[in-house]
Amino acid sequence: MSLHSYRQAVSERTNNALSQTIQALPDHAQTLKQAMEYALLIGGKRMRPFLLHATGEMLGVTATDLDCPAIAIEAVHAYSLIHDDLPAMDDDDLRRGHATCHIKFDEATAILAGDALQTLAFEILCQHPLSASNDLKRIKLVNILSKASGYLGMCGGQAMDLAATDTLINQAQLEALHHKKTGALLSACVEMAIVLADDVTQDSCNTLREYAKIIGLAFQVQDDILDVVGDSEVLGKPQGSDQAQNKSTYPAMMGLEQAQAYLENLHKQALQALQTLPYNTQILAEFTNFVIHRAY
Ligand code: IPE
Ligand code: IPE
Ligand code: MG
Ligand code: MG
Ligand code: MG
Repeated sequence: MSLHSYRQAVSERTNNALSQTIQALPDHAQTLKQAMEYALLIGGKRMRPFLLHATGEMLGVTATDLDCPAIAIEAVHAYSLIHDDLPAMDDDDLRRGHATCHIKFDEATAILAGDALQTLAFEILCQHPLSASNDLKRIKLVNILSKASGYLGMCGGQAMDLAATDTLINQAQLEALHHKKTGALLSACVEMAIVLADDVTQDSCNTLREYAKIIGLAFQVQDDILDVVGDSEVLGKPQGSDQAQNKSTYPAMMGLEQAQAYLENLHKQALQALQTLPYNTQILAEFTNFVIHRAY
């Protein structure tokens, strides 16, 4: 299957499952429900579900079982974007080609939509159907996603990002920040796929973890580069937002060309890691190329 059709298939099943999950919520707070739906379902590349499905299916997990962690992580991701765009954080007004949640609704609703999507993610991990053998693994999924989302992961990274604004930090510090802010959720995709699979050797687990770490960093390096060279229309979010706020990014720290060379180096490392796996890694290799060369 081509990358394009695989991506489309993952996006479709993810969007359907997310839509059903939202529709099933009762209507006692309709504006909040609309804001959750808006942030979850209007656009999004679904890269995390893609990584989860590509890794899990490579390891022999059924697509149906992978839907549970895939939609849970997308709920955490959507919450992280709502809060990231708030005036107290990046103060952006465009996301996925539309007004950000706090502009479309209001700040209080956007904060609550983020909160509710975060908890919805864990409700999904506890309740979304899983096969009998994987039903016993829910606590492990909760453990992985909670660690990757909170202080040890995304939230901790976002705090490091805020602390690194208007200051100079070194490359090791920026790398640590990116690993938490963006890498943690991408690594969680690979971890959750491993948990749902049987009989993955320790060597393969280690290689997949190494791959996830590289791709997580590469994802944010390209995001930083796109903030400089991208086009708001294509990005669906404001180009130049990092520069306007004096954020610590790879292009700001080492210059655009060096950041691009660094990204190419990460690209090679990621593909090399995949080559050592005893599986058909074609879809993951194409995912890697997409992450590195994407224009949005
Ligand atoms: C944007 O993530 C925020 C980062 C972690 C860089 P994505 O580029 O995956 O955003 P969507 O989901 O496609 O909108
Ligand atoms: C945010 O990084 C990553 C998150 C945890 C949401 P950015 O602030 O660079 O993401 P964008 O560029 O707004 O999507
Ligand atoms: Mg940010
Ligand atoms: Mg931002
Ligand atoms: Mg960015």
